[in-house]
Amino acid sequence: MICIVLLKKSLASVTKKIKNCIYICFRTRRYKMDWILKEEEQRGKIAAVSNASRAGSQRGHGSKRGTSISSYNILPAKEPGSVEFTMEEIFRVTRNFSPSFKIGQGGFGAVYRAKLLDGTVVAVKRAKKSVYEKHLGVEFQSEIQTLSRVEHLNLVKFFGYLEQEDERIIVVEYVPNGTLREHLDCIHGSVLDLAARLDIAIDVSHAITYLHMYIDHPIIHRDIKSSNILLTENFRAKVADFGFARQAPDSDSGMTHVSTQVKGTAGYLDPEYLKTYQLTEKSDVYSFGVLLVELVTGRRPIEPKFELRERITARWAMKRFIEGDAISVLDPRLDQIAANTLALEKILELALQCLAPRRQSRPTMKRCAEILWSIRKDIREQLSASNFRSFSTSSQRSTSLKE
Ligand SMILES: Nc1ncnc2c1ncn2[C@@H]1O[C@H](COP(=O)(O)OP(=O)(O)O)[C@@H](O)[C@H]1O
Ligand SMILES: [Mg+2]
Repeated sequence: MICIVLLKKSLASVTKKIKNCIYICFRTRRYKMDWILKEEEQRGKIAAVSNASRAGSQRGHGSKRGTSISSYNILPAKEPGSVEFTMEEIFRVTRNFSPSFKIGQGGFGAVYRAKLLDGTVVAVKRAKKSVYEKHLGVEFQSEIQTLSRVEHLNLVKFFGYLEQEDERIIVVEYVPNGTLREHLDCIHGSVLDLAARLDIAIDVSHAITYLHMYIDHPIIHRDIKSSNILLTENFRAKVADFGFARQAPDSDSGMTHVSTQVKGTAGYLDPEYLKTYQLTEKSDVYSFGVLLVELVTGRRPIEPKFELRERITARWAMKRFIEGDAISVLDPRLDQIAANTLALEKILELALQCLAPRRQSRPTMKRCAEILWSIRKDIREQLSASNFRSFSTSSQRSTSLKE
């Protein structure tokens, strides 16, 4: 027993050293519980910490656990450190799915905050059980297949899943600061400044670039939208919800698109995909363009209560921008200072490219990330030290409405 513990410890330390050498911003490896990235390291630092004790405590419960490893052969094998859950444990940590633990609701089902036995705080997604919602099984498989293949600082981390009788559960890291949409609606009592919004756009562009370019079989997210973007305490963004994710066309074998039924959210949907059923990475780029407009205007993509010409936010904002009146679409909660005006125009210019009707005219997501970085740089250069506040550090990301 002692030998096994020592062997595990030395293995963990060797692994840690190797990891520290080769670890770059994003990696494609299966999630292991003994590698927990610290929140502070999400600002681009390159490090990982070993959490061997967590892995140990997981293994301690091994005999009781019986996670379903279903027929999907790309799911992680039962490897040391991967988390397995029993329904008994899920009921215990969510207090029988107590409404007081509920943190969200989506098309798939309800989401609960829970503390695992070792103290790790997680989000537990539980599928609805309606017999009329057969597609939820497909969404569940899409989500666990995708989550098990990805790992990036700007994507929610996968802890494990459970499929047992009519229960389908997905466990991911808990992201504590609500969704981007909630912040644009100021329901947390403060206004996100434009600098924070730009950084969020950069984070999201990195996450999608990773999905499109840096994994073995690239993935199209298909549901990029503000309520699927979760924020950390430092206002860093993490893209969640892979229920609609789909493998991208294999360009090596000459495929330009995949033909598939349309999925996504009204207001964010690529019109070309809607018309032709041809899905490519550029559909995510289109949704990202809608998101950029949402970020600078604060408005939802569809605003049914507004007058007709303002109802489709992206169309309204692009028209104003082309007419040289960008400032009129700036979120009224943001100050009309020079730095905000400059950022607004540059972000709208990028949005216009992303929203091009034909996918060939849209930039890649990697190009979007580069453009956003250069916008960030230009803005910072323009700002004098005195008015630096509006493009501030993470501790000042949002301005309290109560101030
Ligand atoms: N990891 C998480 N941490 C915190 N809140 C979350 C997390 N995942 C989801 N939520 C909350 O639950 C909501 C629905 O989750 P989501 O994954 O988008 O499910 P659906 O597939 O049903 O849309 C989100 O909009 C968010 O409010
Ligand atoms: Mg969702």
